[in-house]
Amino acid sequence: MKNSYQAFKQNVESAQRSIRSQFGDSIEQAVILGSGLSGLELNGFDKVGDIEYQQIDGLPQSTAPSHKGLLELVSNGTKTIALCSGRQHLYEGYSAQEVCTMIYALGQLGTNSLVVTNAAGALNPNYRPGDVMLINDHINFTGQNPVIGQAEDFGVRFPDMSTAYSKTLSGSAFSAAEKNGTSLHSGIYIGVTGPSLETSAERRMFRTLGADAVGMSTVLEVIAANHIGMDVLGLSAITNLALGDANQQPDTIEEVLANASLAGQKIKSILETVLAQN
Ligand code: HPA
Repeated sequence: MKNSYQAFKQNVESAQRSIRSQFGDSIEQAVILGSGLSGLELNGFDKVGDIEYQQIDGLPQSTAPSHKGLLELVSNGTKTIALCSGRQHLYEGYSAQEVCTMIYALGQLGTNSLVVTNAAGALNPNYRPGDVMLINDHINFTGQNPVIGQAEDFGVRFPDMSTAYSKTLSGSAFSAAEKNGTSLHSGIYIGVTGPSLETSAERRMFRTLGADAVGMSTVLEVIAANHIGMDVLGLSAITNLALGDANQQPDTIEEVLANASLAGQKIKSILETVLAQN
């Protein structure tokens, strides 16, 4: 564990150096674009440059389907934002710290605000595929935590998670959705490791636990972001019904990706307003 922490610290250092050498150290905000959302283009922001994940030293490579592995820097003239197409997941075999290498590296480059997006299955019966849910809180059901084994180099040993998702950014997302005529749910995301999908019994249990959507990412990144003091906004693309009821259908990656891109258009319009304002 101790050795892997040293390796993690070195990886964060290498990754931030690689990014800094191309983009400098004034990346104010970052957006992690999840499954089916890669390559989202934001009106009002021009591309400054990009780096393939492969060129970022120390960064574990993302191998998930529809995860591009590209960091793009965009600017609206007042601020610069890193758009990260693709992320690392526990189900790829990465550790909790490897999953969060990009977050810690961005933190060292001045990023103090993070938007996380993902694809998620609906546990809430009122949700439909193609809908968008603002994550107002999460349940970390992965059994893992990126802060385990860390000294206090990046942040305190016991990070507060009582307001893990920024109320200001969430309020701004709701105003943006209202202005654009986009309906936006607000709910709790439960994060699991995958890669097998949940059984129907597990899905009913997650609903009983109070979750509205289930997915295989995000919770560890949000712990890391809170650990280093970033404000977080979370948006889930609802891609499939995961009610675990008598009508439960088998889930397919094709359905997930098609509905992620439908919800992605709504996420794009919300983000264009939120990022311009905050
Ligand atoms: N379960 C877990 N992860 C997911 C799902 C799901 O139903 N849909 C999209 N990502």
